Order: sequence, then C-alpha cells, then structure tokens
Amino acid sequence: MRDEDLSRTLLEWYDRHARTLPWRAPPGSDTRTDPYRVWLSEIMLQQTTVAAVRAYFQRFTERWPTVADLAAAADADVMAEWAGLGYYARARNLLACARAVVADHGGEFPPTEAGLRSLPGIGPYTAAAIAAIAFDEPAVVVDGNVERVMARLRHIETPLPAAKPEIGQAAAELTPAHRPGDYAQAVMDLGATVCTPRKPACGICPWLDPCAARAMGDQAELPQKTAKAAKPTRVGTVWLARRADGLWLLEDRPAKGLLGGMWGWPGSDWDRAGGEVPLQAPWKNIGTVRHTFTHFHLELSVMHADVGLGVNPERGSFRPLVAENLPTLMRKAYGLAEQKDPAG
Ligand code: ADE
Repeated sequence: MRDEDLSRTLLEWYDRHARTLPWRAPPGSDTRTDPYRVWLSEIMLQQTTVAAVRAYFQRFTERWPTVADLAAAADADVMAEWAGLGYYARARNLLACARAVVADHGGEFPPTEAGLRSLPGIGPYTAAAIAAIAFDEPAVVVDGNVERVMARLRHIETPLPAAKPEIGQAAAELTPAHRPGDYAQAVMDLGATVCTPRKPACGICPWLDPCAARAMGDQAELPQKTAKAAKPTRVGTVWLARRADGLWLLEDRPAKGLLGGMWGWPGSDWDRAGGEVPLQAPWKNIGTVRHTFTHFHLELSVMHADVGLGVNPERGSFRPLVAENLPTLMRKAYGLAEQKDPAG
C-alpha cells in the first residue's frame, strides 16, 4: 500500500473511532483547537494516562481558562493543583512556559515547531504534537504509541532506543500534508486502543493488511527493547509532627530536584534512614511508605509525634494540612499517620 493510502485509511478509521477527549476538536473540524489547551493536555499526558489527566485538565482550564490567566497564577496554587499528577518539574516548567508565552510572544503560542521548542518544558515530541494538532503543521509526532505502531507496521526489529532513527523515518514517510494533526492523534489512538502493547486487536485494525509484523506473526513481540538496568532502592526518613492545635509541621521542598516546589514532610536526604530530627518529641515509627521514581525505588520510614504548642522546629512551619496539595509520596505518609494515630 502506498504511504498516501495508508494515512488516508487511518484517517477514515479516525473519523469513525476517534476518542472524545476534552482538549480535542472533533475529527475533520476546521475549528482549530486552542493551542493553550493542546499544550496543557500534552504536558499533562507526558508519563501519565488519559484517564488520570481528564479531571486535572478540567480543573486547570476552569480555574485558568487562558495562558494569560495561568501566567498570572501564584506558583503555590499551580503546584497545589498539580499535586498527585507526579513529575513535578512539568508543573514548574508549565508556569515558566506560560509566562514566557505572555512576556515574549504577546500571549500567543508560536505556531512552528522551532518556535515551540524554544519554550521551557517543550521538547521535540511536544513541539511536534502542538504544531500538528493546534497549527496543522505536517510535523512528525513520535511518542511511545507511535513507536509501537511503526515498529509493527514496518517490522522494525532493532530494539529501542537504538531503533528511534529508523522509527522516526518510518513515521515521517507516513505523515500526510493534509490533516496532520488528526493523523498524529489517529496513530496515538490506534496505539492506545487497538495496537496495544500485549494483545493487539489485529482483527479490528485498519492497518491489518499492510502490517508487516502481522504477516510474520510476531506483532506482540515488537518493538524489542534493550533491557534497562534494575532500579536501585533508596531509603530515608520523614517526621510528621502534629501540634496540639491540629496544625502539621510541613516545609516547602527546594525548587530544584525531586518533588521540587511541593509541600513535604521534613525528612532526611534519601540516602540513609534516620538523621537530624526537626524537633525533639516522643517520635514513634509508624511504618514505611514506598514510591517509585523514574530512576529508583524509595522506602521512607515514617515517624510520628504529637507535640505541644510551645515547640520551636528547626525547619519548616506548622500549617493546616490540605492532603490534596501533597505529592502522592507525602500523602501516603500522611495516610499512615491518619490510620495509625487518628486525631482525637
Ligand atoms: N497522548 C498524548 N497526546 C495525545 C493526544 N493528543 N491524543 C491521544 N493520546 C495522546
């Protein structure tokens, strides 16, 4: 099948089967999607599923309907609204990007891949996705779904990540000049709903006939991946102090680094358990919480104490607890304290 016929076949499939998503224009519509909504959704969808993103996207766009509204938001409000989505550098870059769009681009997202690339937090994938979806540029969009679909369609046996150039080439050849934004989203939807990692539903695939892997029967084994090094486990301790007036000892984590800019419990560095307590108290170990980051597993020992009104902590400050504002790891530690020692 010729490349044009492949992309046309997929667009016809998309016209019938596109997922309805809050940031998406219906297939084929000429009202272009608002670049702000496309950008926001693409940043949220990095490393995160559509199901998890929906509610966050709704809340962000209700609270900050335009990029100028978001640019004017207080950092702490945005970090709190992002809490639970993970990969918090995305939220810090989100704000930096919104402010750059307002300060340097008159409040309009630049309409080209190169212009978009110059903004904070926008890498090659996101620039291509926004250029295609919001500005109808024939940009080559390659995410994990696209990699899988291309590796199968073209029977690319080179393991990832070495296969990236070959896969990018295959994706570029198929990207159409007509409706490139719908085409990019069509490949993503195909990967998410039909050409799935383990048990692809080849029987209902619009690319069943031209799929080279399907012809060979090894579609479920592609793409190959070079084994990743096992993640190490790191350990640390957090101290959760509840004062007699019900406030909790919390601190703002440094802007740089993991969970940067988020609220956190005072704790040790994540290379040892124990360390300096933030204040003297009858600390009790109430258990361990576990969390997995990109490059390591973390196990935190959770210490808890009730303290009097007169205490003077060496770090952090006593604040009313808003569990929804805590990143998931810190929320897990709080959950343990609530469960083991609920407030009277
Ligand atoms: N994943 C990331 N961006 C997407 C989009 N625009 N449509 C479907 N899945 C996606």
